Amino acid sequence: MRSASPVRQDPNSGMWMVFGYDGVQRTLSDFRAFSSERGRPRGENAQTALSSSIISTDPPRHRQLRSLVEQAFTPRQVRALEPRITELVDELLSQVERTGSMDFVQDFAYPLPVIVIAEILGIPAADRDAFKRWSDAVVTGDQSGSREMGAYFARLIEQRRAEPADDLISGLLAAQVDGEHLDTQELLGFCILLLVAGNETTTNLLANTLLCWQDAPDAYERVRADRDLLPSTTEEVLRYRSPVQSMYRVAAQDVNLEGQVIPEGSPVLTWIGSANRDPAQFPEPGTFDPARSPNRHLAFGNGVHFCLGAPLARLEASVALGAVLDRLPNLRIVPGAVLEPIPSQIVYGVRRLPV
Ligand code: HEM
Repeated sequence: MRSASPVRQDPNSGMWMVFGYDGVQRTLSDFRAFSSERGRPRGENAQTALSSSIISTDPPRHRQLRSLVEQAFTPRQVRALEPRITELVDELLSQVERTGSMDFVQDFAYPLPVIVIAEILGIPAADRDAFKRWSDAVVTGDQSGSREMGAYFARLIEQRRAEPADDLISGLLAAQVDGEHLDTQELLGFCILLLVAGNETTTNLLANTLLCWQDAPDAYERVRADRDLLPSTTEEVLRYRSPVQSMYRVAAQDVNLEGQVIPEGSPVLTWIGSANRDPAQFPEPGTFDPARSPNRHLAFGNGVHFCLGAPLARLEASVALGAVLDRLPNLRIVPGAVLEPIPSQIVYGVRRLPV
């Protein structure tokens, strides 16, 4: 499909599909031709709040929103989280050492990013369980859970407005560009976006690493012997088993993409996972090479919407996988375990991973 028709219209859905590296890169980054904003619902609940967040906005509005949130979510602040992430990883792995077995997704890769984001946002520990339930609700599209979470965040935002604390919500309330602050709906959208964008994605990055090591045992042995290979291993997992497989855009004008004219208003799906296996960009794309260099994968997107959480995801992966290599040297996926894929066109991973 990628080599025969890298850009094609699906006859059933009418959706345009982009498969090749160059086409995906252009679709993600050329915001004048491919809009993130058109056709998104607006309104007052958690799902629609997401539609008014930065990920669903085009420049110039996107630029303003992004610089507002960048003030509260800087790489330096992310680096400062390392000791706390290390502590959380230790706690989660200690539980495993006590019981001797675990579901790598449910017991480790899933709770870690949820707790980290909850703490960044300033969610009190007592509300953590409800918070987990709601974040699932938003990902699965469950309306009542999403509404509950929207109401919860709206209350929390008002509390922080009255009494600022040392957390991201207070930072977002204080941030301003040209004298302008985020309004409550935009803030709500951003909180929910962080939750959705940073949750299942990082979970799958961690679990997909184990699946890659299972596919390529020599790569596992190499990184065990040489820990300096861990960062490039993570980049290769992002390429080889991309946690986000596709992204959505709408053609903002008639646009010629690799010889195909996509009419204005058409929905477009960019296949990141396919681009990341394009032999025109990656020699031997089907080989998991933990030392691949260069590795210009598109797993975090490209252009103005490039993933804001990439430094956090990379930090969590480095701490979590480093600890797994140190503390669980005999970690193996249970032979014959049934690996149920997450039923989604967007996120790529498994629901459970018994090890
Ligand atoms: C945007 C992937 C982790 C927050 C994106 C985009 C991709 C992506 C592909 C581009 C969307 C587009 O072009 O429309 C991933 C992957 C992750 C990850 C693969 C983990 C392995 C995170 C984390 C956070 C986060 C941990 C935050 C806590 C965001 C935000 C955006 C974004 C806020 C929107 C940026 C904008 O529109 O300007 N992510 N992400 N992501 N991501 Fe991530």
